[in-house]
Amino acid sequence: LDADQAALVRGAWDKVKHSEVEILAAVFTAYPDIQAKFPKFAGKDLASVKGSADFALHATRIVSFISEVLALAGNSATAPAIETLVTELANNHKNRGVTKDQFTEFRTALTKYVSSNASWGDNVAAAWNQAFDNVYAIIFAKL
Ligand code: HEM
Repeated sequence: LDADQAALVRGAWDKVKHSEVEILAAVFTAYPDIQAKFPKFAGKDLASVKGSADFALHATRIVSFISEVLALAGNSATAPAIETLVTELANNHKNRGVTKDQFTEFRTALTKYVSSNASWGDNVAAAWNQAFDNVYAIIFAKL
């Protein structure tokens, strides 16, 4: 991403990043197969786990990871740091049996959430999609 694209993506993300629990709940609602991969949440009603400390903790981990990557975006000097973080994420998730299709589901659900909760023009959408394409190229090469 160039610096302008990174600013657009961060601007959208800043509007939703405090809604960690709602983001994870939206992902699980749209794609129960993702929820089923979590030992702590598999087989349970979303409503029964959504208010738990475990749910908040995991939601915060995901959101913090995305914030960390976005803080490094838009600067070629920090591209290697992004590569390292994302490669580690890919390897952790590969070891858990997460599939490319599930990563694509996650992308679909997160994009829907952000586009509905931040101001979303064509320029923001294009930058957001470029960001996911870049990160998913790293992840899909490992899965
Ligand atoms: C754990 C982020 C997609 C399933 C984690 C952690 C982070 C994270 C930061 C905690 C650190 C770790 O243990 O690796 C993300 C991001 C995703 C993503 C940023 C997309 C870009 C997915 C998908 C699935 C998934 C699609 C399942 C289908 C899990 C599971 C854990 C985990 C099962 C372990 C939970 C536990 O410790 O009990 N994820 N994740 N993740 N993620 Fe993801």
